[in-house]
Amino acid sequence: MSLRLGDKAPNFTAQTSQGEINFYDYLGDGWGILFSHPGDYTPVCTTELGRTAALKDEFAKRNTKVLALSVDSVESHQGWINDINETQHVEVNFPIIADPDRKISEAYDMIHPNASVNATIRSLFIIGPDKTVKLIISYPASTGRNFQEILRVLDSLQLTAYHSVATPADWKDGEDVVVVPSIKTEDIPAKFPKGFKEVKPYLRLTPQPNK
Ligand code: BEZ
Repeated sequence: MSLRLGDKAPNFTAQTSQGEINFYDYLGDGWGILFSHPGDYTPVCTTELGRTAALKDEFAKRNTKVLALSVDSVESHQGWINDINETQHVEVNFPIIADPDRKISEAYDMIHPNASVNATIRSLFIIGPDKTVKLIISYPASTGRNFQEILRVLDSLQLTAYHSVATPADWKDGEDVVVVPSIKTEDIPAKFPKGFKEVKPYLRLTPQPNK
């Protein structure tokens, strides 16, 4: 059975490029991103892991820890990290999980046999502090993910979690947001002192609260 939004993220203990890690302990009470790639020493993955390392401060600002995964071994990861650091001009600063027996890949449904029998696809999960799954995306092996979009979703999820707002289509940081439907219009002024605009009774916009 595949994982769905709202499900508890399976916990695991795994060997990684930074030693043995227990997933829940590693995340602590913060947010997490677990993402898989098809394999070490592959071109698109090299750029993705480089970009993830370059965004270290952005993830830290969002109290979010990142873990990558492939079915390759820790030794393979270690050698590949040198290449990523050299070619992408970064210092890979997050663990890469080795999942040779595919236990984690299977728990997270990261292997899609009709796409590839023996490699994980580009799956990405955002896990909330409550350890439930908040986002699932699946990309093909040949398309590198857009990490600005992943940061954008993190921002949106955190705005909902901490400020009771949702984000409209194509929302960008700093733009107006949507007051969640569970808040009555008469309660908006007290909760959103920056003001609001009622476009329709079900569509109430307010300036981004944390700006
Ligand atoms: C890769 O870099 O992982 C990749 C590139 C092209 C096709 C499939 C995989």
